[in-house]
Amino acid sequence: MAQHWSMRNLPEMDEEQFRLWQALLEERTGMALAPERKTFLETSLAMRMRELGLERYDVYYEQLVNRPAADTIMEWSILVDRLTVQETSFFRHRGSYDLVEKYVRDRFTSARPPQNFNVWSVGCSSGEEPYSLAMLLTGLFEELKVKPYWGITATDISLPVLAKARRGVYGARKVELVEPALRERWFTKISDREYEISAELKGRICFARVNVLELHKVPFQDVDLIYCQNMLIYFRRWRKREIVTRLADRLAPGGLMVLGLGEVVDWQHPNMDKVRFDNSLAYMRRMH
Ligand SMILES: C[S@@+](CC[C@H](N)C(=O)[O-])C[C@H]1O[C@@H](n2cnc3c(N)ncnc32)[C@H](O)[C@@H]1O
Repeated sequence: MAQHWSMRNLPEMDEEQFRLWQALLEERTGMALAPERKTFLETSLAMRMRELGLERYDVYYEQLVNRPAADTIMEWSILVDRLTVQETSFFRHRGSYDLVEKYVRDRFTSARPPQNFNVWSVGCSSGEEPYSLAMLLTGLFEELKVKPYWGITATDISLPVLAKARRGVYGARKVELVEPALRERWFTKISDREYEISAELKGRICFARVNVLELHKVPFQDVDLIYCQNMLIYFRRWRKREIVTRLADRLAPGGLMVLGLGEVVDWQHPNMDKVRFDNSLAYMRRMH
């Protein structure tokens, strides 16, 4: 297939190639790329190809398809990183955190409070979401005077964002939006422009690479809280429902799954009830 570098200094992608890339991306990452995003795909691929010293989309495509899966994990991770928006922030959606707070209070003041509390942040990006959950939970457990054995597993498909999350260093503009009491307790200013998350919070979180299309490979079970927001937006409706069902199957009885507002419609599960709480979308697993 002939390819020409255009005025924009990008090789042009013909329709057949676009269809091949769309299919490959959807098969490997679940991401459904609309036709109007062809230029975006061309730009993102071309940037990566330049770094790799490649000039043709089909050569890059062949490399991704023909190499053994284990050899392309890193490359896929970088590519997905370029094709998705990793935008996130601390306490991004207040309504969802309010719901988590209520849920934790209810469970830990019930007649049989749990001994363990396992949290899973799915599509955690650079870590702001799991760190926010860790700040919230630490404060709540102290206030309620309970000491469960607890931790957060935070997963994402992208290795670059996971590296950033583990480092736990954030720009001042982001951190300055965090409530002052939390900021003072959990962040240390390391330069004029950066803050670092405390070691105590880092110690509560285990970051790992998980592609949500491969949930069958993940050993998590009996999770008390699954928090999954702004990740399902990349997927087709049927796939969103499938992923949410797989996540729900990992919840412990009484466990809560918090999604982003409007992120699934018409989803049902025989063991899950929709939770009524303002400004949130969540489902709870029945006890029996
Ligand atoms: C916009 S961020 C959301 C971050 C955070 N949950 C929030 O709400 O602020 C979406 C994340 O989903 C991740 N993602 C995209 N496709 C994925 C997949 N197939 N498996 C796991 N993570 C994926 C991206 O790498 C990105 O970090």
